[in-house]
Amino acid sequence: WWDRVGPATKDPITGVTESFLADSSPNKINLGVGAYRDDEGRPVVLRCVREAEASIAGSEFLESVSAAVSSKFVGESVKLVYGSDSDIVKEGRVAGVQALSGTGACRLFAEFQRHFHPDSRIYLPDPTWSNHHNIWKDAQVAERTFHYYDPVSKGLNFSALIDDVKNAPDGSFFLLHPCAHNPTGVDPTEEQWREISYQFKVKNHFPFFDMAYQGFASGDLDKDARAIRIFLKDDHLVGCAQSFAKNMGLYGHRVGCLSILCADSNQVGSIRSQLQRIARAMYSSPPVHGVLLVSTILSDPYLKSLWIEEVKNMANRIRGMRTTLQDSLERLDSPLNWEHITNQVGMFCFSGLTPDQVDRLAREFHIYMTRDGRISMAGVTTGNVSYLANAIHETTRS
Ligand code: LMR
Repeated sequence: WWDRVGPATKDPITGVTESFLADSSPNKINLGVGAYRDDEGRPVVLRCVREAEASIAGSEFLESVSAAVSSKFVGESVKLVYGSDSDIVKEGRVAGVQALSGTGACRLFAEFQRHFHPDSRIYLPDPTWSNHHNIWKDAQVAERTFHYYDPVSKGLNFSALIDDVKNAPDGSFFLLHPCAHNPTGVDPTEEQWREISYQFKVKNHFPFFDMAYQGFASGDLDKDARAIRIFLKDDHLVGCAQSFAKNMGLYGHRVGCLSILCADSNQVGSIRSQLQRIARAMYSSPPVHGVLLVSTILSDPYLKSLWIEEVKNMANRIRGMRTTLQDSLERLDSPLNWEHITNQVGMFCFSGLTPDQVDRLAREFHIYMTRDGRISMAGVTTGNVSYLANAIHETTRS
């Protein structure tokens, strides 16, 4: 039955974790997966999560998530995207469903796209999170890429991006990272977002936002939703995948939300029920515990403000490490320019290291990252930053 089945290609991100775990060196550093770590390199359970956990202990229905919890969760999640006092939310124009974190939200949307626009394609930024390619491919939606990153400036290739937006057939689907672009850490400026939104309007393109790192770019949840708000001002209909894996440290609980902004509130019931139908055939319903935590935090003013503070602290720690890493490389008299480390934002630094240099870092220094040279800045700590800077210097000097 299964003779033809060979091993799958290693995932470029989770494969890094496997190699890291197999290394017995005490100096090893994991800069692979984009999950937050504290300054000791440990995964973090946020205080707001601990307090929410204590407050729901014993009260949970373990059979299934109740409609009330689920709609509270969706209601609170969409406010983070569309704005807490947005008319769109008040008018009930958002069809939202709980999803299996950001990946599940993207996959659900890809399935929905294929059902209702079977001949459409998805335009993905070049580069993008590696799993985006798998998600739309497995949902049998053809993909194209659009220009995004400029390896020379290590910033945005804005003019090529705009050309691709203009040259795509009218009414195309585009995936956009609204903040903290993964893997490059390069975000358009506010003015550039306005121009992108304008060109999308001219071309009647559909923007689908994958917001996996809200809060990590600026430390402020609203500021990180600015790109989406610009599109809303221009009256776009949008879709959005949200993940609480990073900004609430709930990676293992798979808590996310997929929302689609509808033309009017009449459309909401149809779209939501279709999303629920697709989810039902794939996995029936998502798990209960994480969603209960998130809805408890977002609907309690004290816990929510605690969370906002904790997000700011996580973003600040990462920003601080960017500065220290850049300073350390400059102090070593590196002949290379490392300004992009602090120009880029969010969890990742697209270092410019080549696959060979990445391999050497793993082999000789026990430092692990994806082969595209993406550094998860969350893995950099006060304790390992000078070891890392030295290793990068050694690897790039010759
Ligand atoms: C990453 O890019 O490292 C994160 O989004 C985690 C993941 O699941 O890939």
